[in-house]
Amino acid sequence: MTVVCRLEDVGRVYGHRHPVTALRGVNLSISAGEFVSVMGPSGSGKSTLLHILGLLDSPTHGTYSLAGQPILHMGHRTKARLRAETIGFVFQSFHLVSTETAIDNVVLGMAYQNVGWRRRYRLAAEALTRLGLEHRMGAFPATLSGGERQRLAIARAVAGEKRLLLCDEPTGNLDHENTMQFLDTVTRLNADGLTVVVVTHDPEVAAAADRTFVLRDGAIEAGGDRRCGGSAGRSPGWWRSISSVTSATIWSPPCRRPGSSSPPPANSR
Ligand SMILES: Nc1ncnc2c1ncn2[C@@H]1O[C@H](COP(=O)(O)OP(=O)(O)O)[C@@H](O)[C@H]1O
Ligand SMILES: [Mg+2]
Repeated sequence: MTVVCRLEDVGRVYGHRHPVTALRGVNLSISAGEFVSVMGPSGSGKSTLLHILGLLDSPTHGTYSLAGQPILHMGHRTKARLRAETIGFVFQSFHLVSTETAIDNVVLGMAYQNVGWRRRYRLAAEALTRLGLEHRMGAFPATLSGGERQRLAIARAVAGEKRLLLCDEPTGNLDHENTMQFLDTVTRLNADGLTVVVVTHDPEVAAAADRTFVLRDGAIEAGGDRRCGGSAGRSPGWWRSISSVTSATIWSPPCRRPGSSSPPPANSR
């Protein structure tokens, strides 16, 4: 089983004069292909943890290794490139650009990926098709339904060759039907090989994951038990090495499991 994210005794303290400890002594491993959820009260450090996993922030204590590489030894450029090319984020607010079409929103999201425009449009179209939005590529966000906007945000997050999807309270503003559609979509992407971490307050969302971690006061209070076997361990080889991140291809294309790229279910359209 290939470990994608490994946190060893990770802490994060904000500020100096009046330090706030957001994370303390966090030990956590996430394997390729896993679907992990993170729960905990407000202020318990969930977003901080997600930002560290996504290379948006760094620990002030301990070590974080992404695909076996300690990020402490990575330069800013390497981190930025890894983040842009392999990690997707979905937040509670979709942060779509209202003046751009669906496909341009996805293309804009690839601004920091080292690919030319033609390829960006091709990858964006692929992502939108994967999310069942092939008929809405030219639509502006305001003309999309809530469910379509949500899938557009996910398409933007996973466009290209993303390996890790990090979601911070993605269903916080959604009704039950759209929450179920989100789960449907993410479960399908996970079955296609994407490693998924979802921060959530919704027990139903958490229950869909292979494992749930509970954070309290910056420490992992509970979690780590495998719930149902899930997708952990069905790891393709693409996480194994990131030693040549400066080469044109960071990882080989994701390995699709037979029959796993099914179209979105009818109820998600
Ligand atoms: N940029 C920051 N500067 C100072 N304190 C912060 C910052 N971001 C978060 N915190 C604090 O760190 C703790 C954890 O925050 P956060 O990770 O956002 O928790 P959660 O996502 O679980 O609500 C909170 O006490 C919060 O106020
Ligand atoms: Mg938060």
